[in-house]
Amino acid sequence: ELEMISAGYGTVMAVRDISLSIKKGEFVALIGSNGAGKSTILRTISGLIRPRQGSIRFDGKRIDGMAPHQIVRAGIAHVPEGRQVFPDLSVAENLEMGGFIWRREPAKFREALDLVYSVFPKLAQRRTQMAGTLSGGEQQMLAIGRALMTRPRLLLLDEPSLGLAPKVVLEMFNLFARLHQTTGLTILLVEQLAALTLEYTQRGYVLERGEIKLADSSVVLRSNPRVQQIYLGA
Ligand SMILES: Nc1ncnc2c1ncn2[C@@H]1O[C@H](COP(=O)(O)OP(=O)(O)O)[C@@H](O)[C@H]1O
Ligand SMILES: [Mg+2]
Repeated sequence: ELEMISAGYGTVMAVRDISLSIKKGEFVALIGSNGAGKSTILRTISGLIRPRQGSIRFDGKRIDGMAPHQIVRAGIAHVPEGRQVFPDLSVAENLEMGGFIWRREPAKFREALDLVYSVFPKLAQRRTQMAGTLSGGEQQMLAIGRALMTRPRLLLLDEPSLGLAPKVVLEMFNLFARLHQTTGLTILLVEQLAALTLEYTQRGYVLERGEIKLADSSVVLRSNPRVQQIYLGA
């Protein structure tokens, strides 16, 4: 739950007075054009930048001001924009890096790895392959798999469709739907692809120039004239 969050960089205030809440088990969209402040909101939730104002609660506990690794341990995983896998490490090594919080709990590590390989059988097949030689879609899956290694209760996805072919994007979204349905994982999906995102999610927020302009069920947002005009090319 974000309450009146403002955050930015230097003298630039990128987002202002952001209030949003996500319930356990929900699949929620945050849509907005390039530069609207979507990534800034995710970075603020995961502790990469500190809010200037406002509070963030997770499971009722304040997490704003906590270090990123503490927020990971609290149960939030962030898949940043642009994938950012370690190209010179193998698939398995990338996943190991993601499972760093289980250093002293090998059974938990094993459990997390089994889960990731069952969600992404392709990663299991390619466990020894260097991440840099995977296709774009496979790298995105690896980035998500790496985040899942922490066994999060909230998954933050930043524009996972970026740079992927339409067919691969569809596969990715179907995978999110499956992940949400089968594991009950809570997901906040940040996207510019508004139409598709609003088809897959339950609720959504529309961000414009650092402010939340609309918040509603995804079905209602899809038929909103403003959303249609700006984001759905109507
Ligand atoms: N590291 C940064 N330093 C300075 N300004 C930034 C930085 N990252 C983003 N911004 C600015 O903050 C605003 C919001 O950016 P961002 O959150 O990345 O938007 P989005 O993810 O919606 O495209 C933009 O005006 C952008 O130029
Ligand atoms: Mg962004």
